[in-house]
Amino acid sequence: MRCCIEAKIVWRRRAAWKILPRAGAISMLVLFAPACGKSTSPAALDLPIYFTCDTHGRLEPCGCFVGQFGGLTRLKTVLDAEAPASALRVDVGDAAAGREDYDLIEYRYMLRAFAEMKYDVLNIGAREAQFTAAQLRDLKSSSPTPIISANLLDKSSRQPIFDSYRIVQRGALRVAIIGVLDPRAMENPGDGLAVGDMESAVERCLAQLRGKADLIVLLAFADEAALGRLAQEFYECKVILGGKVSQPAQELIRQNRSLIYFVTNESRALGILRLRLARGADLEVTGNEMRLLHDQIPQDASLRQLMQGYRDEIRHARLGVDDANSLGADAVPGVRTVASYAGTEKCLACHQSAAAVWKHSPHARAFATLMDPKADADPKCIGCHTVGFGRFSGYRREFGATKLANVGCESCHGPGSLHVRQREGDGTVNFTFRPLGGGDCVKCHYGEFSRPFDWDRFWPGIKHGKEPSMSVAAEE
Ligand code: HEC
Ligand code: HEC
Ligand code: HEC
Ligand code: HEC
Repeated sequence: MRCCIEAKIVWRRRAAWKILPRAGAISMLVLFAPACGKSTSPAALDLPIYFTCDTHGRLEPCGCFVGQFGGLTRLKTVLDAEAPASALRVDVGDAAAGREDYDLIEYRYMLRAFAEMKYDVLNIGAREAQFTAAQLRDLKSSSPTPIISANLLDKSSRQPIFDSYRIVQRGALRVAIIGVLDPRAMENPGDGLAVGDMESAVERCLAQLRGKADLIVLLAFADEAALGRLAQEFYECKVILGGKVSQPAQELIRQNRSLIYFVTNESRALGILRLRLARGADLEVTGNEMRLLHDQIPQDASLRQLMQGYRDEIRHARLGVDDANSLGADAVPGVRTVASYAGTEKCLACHQSAAAVWKHSPHARAFATLMDPKADADPKCIGCHTVGFGRFSGYRREFGATKLANVGCESCHGPGSLHVRQREGDGTVNFTFRPLGGGDCVKCHYGEFSRPFDWDRFWPGIKHGKEPSMSVAAEE
């Protein structure tokens, strides 16, 4: 009877955003709904597992267009609304965005976000394994959510950096969660790190866990084929969650004696697996689902606050990208052969018709757009909203809005100093901009950062070319 009452409560709490029909790439699959009225043994425990992978720094969605999915800010809303306290909440890896100093700063805020969402454990993915051993040791001691990895090793001692597994209690049941990372899923681990063999790490954990756990869940940052091999080899791991995959699982996979389920998609999908288990008995699947974190789900205010904390900290932090000397000034060391950025203002004087189009386009206001979310000093944002950020002579954070802000002429055409010198009469320079096309737009207009890019729809919005007078002059 209990589940029927629960269902009613859930229904009552169900907010408008939860019942909106969504057209999505991921089909919702529920194997069988909880059987209401069916008597269950008193020892049976419902164990829903909520899991994520590949959050890729999406503490908050970037907001580049309306209708965007994803973000931990939405994930928390969903978990708060429906995940019972007994639910297991785990991340399989790749929560960090990258290995840069600002990625590390953001990852610290993400760890706090996972703690606020009551995550039980976080596994190390390929991106986290690119931080250095020293950075990870520091995270290990400071993270409010336990991080595990059975095969991310200290390069010299070959000892795991983190605990290999964690055991959590749910009712009378002991659930062991093991974390591994497929060494084939990554190229270069960070300084001082090595990734050991995944299978022998699992084997070692299973030996240690003998008699200590009623259910073993394996978090494996690995692709479909590797997940299947793990199921073949380690039947003790009743649940195997991945992964390093290109698409979230379309269905729950049963292989050997394991259930395999995986999720990805830069924080846009949440994997849900509903299990019922009793001591000594087989586990029963009462439901599974790939939930889309769509744009109608409100964003959680406390996590948005955390995001703002990150943005405040990053504004005042001294970062690698702030040091222009580190940005590779010359193609040949010591010889300045390449053009540098001249600034949009320089171009406007001669190219008046292009200037008129540009001034009225959103590109000319792209920096102001970042002011409102206070993202104007966030290296994760300004790259596509300025001219040449991260490149020698390009936009630097210390400029504020004073120069090279906005998507300027040179954001697309490239550095123009040599062109300006030539067109101002320096006969020693012979420079031609390379021709551009749709491929140059999708450097910024891709993925979650843009509505699907279509040249025929976007180019008319900014169409421009040579000055009529110039073309006449050139033909003469
Ligand atoms: C990879 C390039 C890229 C990055 C990185 C990027 N943006 Fe954008 N942003 C775009 C593009 C392209 C558009 C225009 C999208 C469209 O029109 O469909 C845009 C538009 C926007 C808009 C305007 C939306 C509107 O409706 O007018 C906002 C706000 C914005 N971005 C904020 C951010 C923030 C905040 C970040 C950092 C978290 C960020 N962007 C990072 C490329 C980027
Ligand atoms: C002093 C005037 C002047 C300035 C300043 C100037 N241009 Fe030009 N630009 C010209 C002339 C003249 C042409 C040749 C037009 C033709 O061939 O019909 C030209 C051609 C171009 C072309 C066509 C490809 C090529 O290499 O010839 C591009 C693209 C271009 N300019 C972009 C820019 C950008 C970007 C800036 C600012 C960094 C800029 N121009 C600044 C005068 C100028
Ligand atoms: C350096 C990054 C970058 C490149 C390259 C880029 N864009 Fe954009 N684009 C943006 C950003 C950022 C915005 C949003 C500006 C805003 O609203 O603040 C935008 C907005 C637009 C818009 C307005 C969309 C709307 O909402 O009305 C059009 C049209 C557009 N871009 C076309 C293009 C085309 C065509 C190309 C290639 C020739 C291109 N863009 C290349 C960053 C870029
Ligand atoms: C969003 C990207 C983008 C921005 C910003 C942009 N352009 Fe262009 N521009 C293009 C594309 C794409 C073409 C057409 C393809 C080509 O001819 O290379 C083009 C063509 C041109 C041409 C004609 C080139 C030729 O060989 O016929 C000139 C001149 C030019 N742009 C100047 C400018 C100036 C000046 C600005 C700034 C006021 C500017 N562009 C801003 C993408 C851009």
